[in-house]
Amino acid sequence: MKFNEFSFHKDLLKGIKIAGFKEPSPIQESVIPVIEEGRDMVGQAHTGTGKTAAFGLPIINKIANGDIERALVITPTRELATQVSDELYHLGRFCGIRTITVYGGVGYGRQIALINKGVQIIVATPGRLKDLYKKGKIDNFNPEIVVLDEADEMLDMGFLDEIKEIFEYIPQNRQTLLFSATIPEPIKALADEILTTPEFISVVGEYEGTVNNVIEQSYCVINESQRDEAIVKLLETEKINKCIIFCRMKREVDRLTEHLQAIGFSAKGLHGDLDQMEREEVIKSYRRNQVKVMVATDVASRGLDVKQVTHVFNYHIPFDPQSYVHRIGRTGRAGKSGKAITLVSTTEFKELTRIQKEVGAEMKLATINLSGEENSSCVDCFPSLEATVRAVDIDERALDFIDSMEDMDYHEFVERVVTLLLKGEKSPLTKHLGYDENSVKNMIDEYQGEQKVARHNNRKKKRC
Ligand SMILES: Nc1ncnc2c1ncn2[C@@H]1O[C@H](COP(=O)(O)OP(=O)(O)OP(=O)(O)O)[C@@H](O)[C@H]1O
Ligand SMILES: [Mg+2]
Repeated sequence: MKFNEFSFHKDLLKGIKIAGFKEPSPIQESVIPVIEEGRDMVGQAHTGTGKTAAFGLPIINKIANGDIERALVITPTRELATQVSDELYHLGRFCGIRTITVYGGVGYGRQIALINKGVQIIVATPGRLKDLYKKGKIDNFNPEIVVLDEADEMLDMGFLDEIKEIFEYIPQNRQTLLFSATIPEPIKALADEILTTPEFISVVGEYEGTVNNVIEQSYCVINESQRDEAIVKLLETEKINKCIIFCRMKREVDRLTEHLQAIGFSAKGLHGDLDQMEREEVIKSYRRNQVKVMVATDVASRGLDVKQVTHVFNYHIPFDPQSYVHRIGRTGRAGKSGKAITLVSTTEFKELTRIQKEVGAEMKLATINLSGEENSSCVDCFPSLEATVRAVDIDERALDFIDSMEDMDYHEFVERVVTLLLKGEKSPLTKHLGYDENSVKNMIDEYQGEQKVARHNNRKKKRC
């Protein structure tokens, strides 16, 4: 299908062409006609598949054709509000669409002045928007279409009351649209409350899972103390253009960022305790390629669209399966490939199995290459060594050692020789970080066995 089959305004088609969009993505193909018709709807599609334009294009078209005057988009974070506003501006610029971003942490004056000057699209975070309506500062902004982007996250963040209050200030005869890559049950309840006979459109196959499986996913089972070493090795050995490392806590972000900077990586941290200017600065330098590694909390997990993010690393596995979907969805966007690697300790098997089951994540077990380069065999490095050593009278241990040389690379060989000479012991050096497939299988079997016993005992207790 082509975009001109939607009978879009010619100036909008110009914007789409300049954006480089050749054909609509499946979610765009499915929802644009429904939005054009004026229906309320809930839309679900994998991360990075163009949900912004799926609601943005019909909104711009309606404004360009004079069918509606105003629209409102609500997003959970300030970064996402800015990004969505930018995309709508770019797609709609030949139609002369005026957009504005509204969020907390900055002064009210400029935002109010711009809104009252007559903007057509506001993209806002819930808190500040509610304040503006409540204070009576934007009484004239009556949107005919309202979009909740990342609707489930807004509920998770506790924005339900703000959202309900915002809807009290907006005309009843509006069209309301909800979008996300994940649509958990509570969203359906919200949809019942604020939408009118909505259509549910999902382009995520029923058996496919909510994870975008275009992304190559793997996990590495390590000891708790190996996290930093594992991340550093991954940064050194993977072919990375830009990457995000997700941590669970703000202080972990700060500590890891400092550690990576100290050993020479171009890294910056992003979390909710930074002030607005700092947050914007981090994102800007990351977008402009001045920073290659972004270390972040889940504040960066939703909706963020940065080109050329080749890798996402989970320093810790997230507690929540939905969060896994969105975190790894920062790569593998707009048809590009991407890699997601999750570090897991044995205490995190519970989260691992939940994520694999609940969101259909196909994660392969991997180990981390410690050498950082293609291994060159020690036999290649010392071609005549073996024959020379065999020719002299040596003891059994040395002969065993010679026999195992085939599998060693140069570094391992040198380390083993030095260790044998110094201590007369076997070197502890291995080629990989992380447990191998058999050990992990045994650990998971053991973990599942313990779970079964615990469940059995619980049932027994209940019966008693
Ligand atoms: N039809 C299209 N052709 C090519 N690129 C597109 C098309 N539609 C959108 N894009 C681009 O794809 C990228 C991802 O789009 P978008 O951010 O809307 O994804 P999303 O589905 O909202 O993802 P998430 O669930 O992570 O929020 C953006 O860079 C966008 O400009
Ligand atoms: Mg999005």
